[in-house]
Amino acid sequence: MDKAKEFKWKFFLLFIATFIFILCVTVRTPRTYRAIPKPHGPPKTCPLQISERTITPLNNTKHLLVSAYMDQREKGLDIRIIGIFKRDSIQPLYCLFCCAGHLSSKTTPTTIIQHSDNFGFPFVTTDVMCQIPPNCIATHVGLLTQPDSVKVFNQTWLPIRNQKTNEKEENKLQFNFTVCISNLFGDYNNVLQFAQTLEMYRLLGVDRVVIYNTSCGPDLDRLLQSYSQEGFVEMVPWPIDHHLNPSRGWLFSQSGGDVHYFGQLTTLNECIYRSMDRSRYVLLNDIDEIIMPYQHNNLMSLMGMLQQQHPNTGVYLIENHIFPKKHFEPSGRFHLPQWNGVPGINILEHIYREEPNRNIYHPHKMIVQPRSVGWTSVHEVVKYSGERFKVPLDVCRIIHVRVALQGSLTVEQLHEDKRLWDFQEKLIPNVDKVLRRVALLSSEGHS
Ligand SMILES: *[C@@H]1O[C@H](CO)[C@@H](O)[C@H](O)[C@H]1NC(C)=O
Ligand SMILES: *[C@@H]1O[C@H](CO)[C@@H](O)[C@H](O)[C@H]1NC(C)=O
Ligand SMILES: *[C@@H]1O[C@H](CO)[C@@H](O)[C@H](O)[C@H]1NC(C)=O
Ligand SMILES: *[C@@H]1O[C@H](CO)[C@@H](O)[C@H](O)[C@H]1NC(C)=O
Repeated sequence: MDKAKEFKWKFFLLFIATFIFILCVTVRTPRTYRAIPKPHGPPKTCPLQISERTITPLNNTKHLLVSAYMDQREKGLDIRIIGIFKRDSIQPLYCLFCCAGHLSSKTTPTTIIQHSDNFGFPFVTTDVMCQIPPNCIATHVGLLTQPDSVKVFNQTWLPIRNQKTNEKEENKLQFNFTVCISNLFGDYNNVLQFAQTLEMYRLLGVDRVVIYNTSCGPDLDRLLQSYSQEGFVEMVPWPIDHHLNPSRGWLFSQSGGDVHYFGQLTTLNECIYRSMDRSRYVLLNDIDEIIMPYQHNNLMSLMGMLQQQHPNTGVYLIENHIFPKKHFEPSGRFHLPQWNGVPGINILEHIYREEPNRNIYHPHKMIVQPRSVGWTSVHEVVKYSGERFKVPLDVCRIIHVRVALQGSLTVEQLHEDKRLWDFQEKLIPNVDKVLRRVALLSSEGHS
């Protein structure tokens, strides 16, 4: 009897010990670790150093990296890294991946695509594309100048964005319209026009405005901080001046410098990829430009009509129209006292439109479906799928209040265009509200 009991007891202990042993072995050796052959030399875990910056220098080169996106629209390619590369020193590069916490055992070669519009500048927007190795759940990517990953110690990793789980979920997109504003720089402080334009976008149905910020004036800074807290504006730091000598012009032979217009072409492309998985349409225009429907009350009904008429179109070109700021509407109806102390242009006071000189090149801005864009220039998309459509002037055009382009024209030679006034009833109180929020509204105005 006793012996039988003792035997049972021993057997029970042995069972428990075995169970604990198996448990330990299973827990201490995760599946993925066992599946990957042990490499010699390089560290087994990653990422160690993730870049939180919008501009990351690529070690051992003159190039700058901006961001990495999953993009499987081209066969055999998975990743698109957007960067700013020095044209005269582009060398072969290799992608290294971080696969669910572990370094990929091999690098993959890259395809390097320099954008064609460099305007003579030494640096140009460049896409580096590569494949994810098999059996890798890639979370981060880095670039190497040599194909072997053995000497990697301090790799800087870019997180891979747009890792969508579900494609074709058009109806679940977070935004209908995103406006991409490239490159705020200098001490730009045109607060009134900025606030009016942002509020106008909102009335037209824009959900998000992405602004790349190198620097701005003090009042505009306050205004944008406020918009960004609210979530309507997404500020992306763009310290390009810490890395390069950015040009204020668009042509190297005229202005010199390292890169076209503070890197505008890079930010426009970055914004399209940033918006690809979350916005139905992207508007590519400057902050002093309003893409204005003339037959519809908002952008959604405009696009509803255009898409129905042109179902295969992914790029819509909108013609730019200049409203010179030197000509004022005579009644002074919208010269409002509460805006007297606010720096900047009051767009409601400028209602005279220049007729474009169609004998010379006349630029467009664009509404695009981001998923049909490969890469873009300022006035046209260079690589895209689907068709392109020039939207008729009576349907939509850009209201652009600025210095006259054809300065010699008198008011009589301009077209009166009061389209903005159709929105004044909502626009004025909305502008007042946001200016009051940042304490810029003059006290006499209690509208
Ligand atoms: C890694 O970077 C740190 C600082 O960023 C530096 O101190 C260290 O020497 C580097 N290690 C190697 C092996 O390059
Ligand atoms: C960067 O370059 C330096 C010097 O060439 C080297 O010591 C360091 O390990 C490199 N770091 C990375 C992240 O490759
Ligand atoms: C986008 O537009 C559709 C149709 O007008 C609307 O039902 C939907 O709520 C809008 N989505 C957003 C995020 O505004
Ligand atoms: C824009 O960038 C400048 C320079 O880094 C910074 O001082 C300012 O606060 C930024 N403004 C906003 C609204 O992000």
